[in-house]
Amino acid sequence: MSQAQPALDTNGIRSGFPGLTGGWHYLDSAATAQKPQVVIDAATRAMGADYATVHRGVYARSAEMTLAFEAARRKVAAFIGGAEDELVFTRGATEAINLVAQTWGAANLKAGDRILLSLLEHHSNIVPWQLLAERTGVAIDVCPLTGDGRIDLDAAEAMLTREHKLVAFAHVSNVLGSVLDGPRAVALAHGVGAVILLDGCQAVPRLPVDVAALGCDFYAFSAHKLYGPTGIGALWARRELLAAMPPWQGGGAMIDRVTFERTTYAPAPQRFEAGTPAIVEAIALGAAVDYVSAIGLPAIHAHEAALVGQLRRELAARNDVTLFGPEDSAGIVSFALDGVHPHDLGTILDEEGVAIRAGHHCAQPLMDHLGVPATARASFGLYSDESDIAALLRGIERTRRIFG
Ligand SMILES: Cc1ncc(COP(=O)(O)O)c(C=O)c1O
Repeated sequence: MSQAQPALDTNGIRSGFPGLTGGWHYLDSAATAQKPQVVIDAATRAMGADYATVHRGVYARSAEMTLAFEAARRKVAAFIGGAEDELVFTRGATEAINLVAQTWGAANLKAGDRILLSLLEHHSNIVPWQLLAERTGVAIDVCPLTGDGRIDLDAAEAMLTREHKLVAFAHVSNVLGSVLDGPRAVALAHGVGAVILLDGCQAVPRLPVDVAALGCDFYAFSAHKLYGPTGIGALWARRELLAAMPPWQGGGAMIDRVTFERTTYAPAPQRFEAGTPAIVEAIALGAAVDYVSAIGLPAIHAHEAALVGQLRRELAARNDVTLFGPEDSAGIVSFALDGVHPHDLGTILDEEGVAIRAGHHCAQPLMDHLGVPATARASFGLYSDESDIAALLRGIERTRRIFG
């Protein structure tokens, strides 16, 4: 049977990533991606020669910066199939989900209502809902997983009732790499009149995402996993929902008119962006979107899928490795090496110049379900290639020799 080959020219790509020099094998892109020089250059220009505030300045530099900032918003929105007035810049996915919980959730949910999450969610898509539940009395249900580690949508269908007002699922699992059947999840949620939030943190760097085609209501992601800077991410929300949501943080830039008697607010998305925004970060995120778009997500997805296939085959051929997650996981391979704690494996791999993630991956309920305290996780980016897999396998072999 012919196996898919990694499709991208990683030698050329790697030379554009200053963080990848020196033969380092970086297999932790699901935690955060390395940055291409074009993104670094865009940030440097925005913080240097082009720097000024946005929205308020009457001078030309500020007007130009405002245009660049809003152009970044347009670009980011278009990248996921949305419109610019539906795109709120946040500090990241975590803040985006908290925003939905604290504004839409607080305004629309009450005791007796239910929220459906899944067993594989990142803590960022659990704890904000628990905080909301403490305040409002809503109940949280947890959708189980299929045997191969996908959100079990048959189970979700059986669990969902008219009392469910919100479904919040990861589009791609940060531990298992399992890809949600987005359209079906949306249809199930809408079928009982619930809205659906997709946590797209691990999906946007790996799959073409189109919120319009998905039909979801909220979509959250972070720039730093998409080859952009830390400190910025986005919440996309359906226009009608966003328009009806009350503000959450108060301050400059989110108002229409302030008096001590009564304050009125700016329309969305500005209503949700109090204070001076992350100007430099937004512009750098726009550059990251340009960079990724030029390579193309279908090519990135095919490239990572081939690497996942290769690594899973190599690990499955050993008799001392447990693999977690489905065969077709997106860019992420979680595993356990018999008799070796993932932290020990990670430490020995580090000595070999291989960086993996070892831990609970901010998904402790999933670890409990898998019956392990932690997993070892290798995750790929568009710059990853077979040399990273070979180095990882050499490191695993050395670890085996050390631990016997
Ligand atoms: C699936 C998923 N959701 C949410 C997050 C939180 O992202 P951030 O820490 O950038 O807000 C992550 C990051 O690891 C993630 O992988």
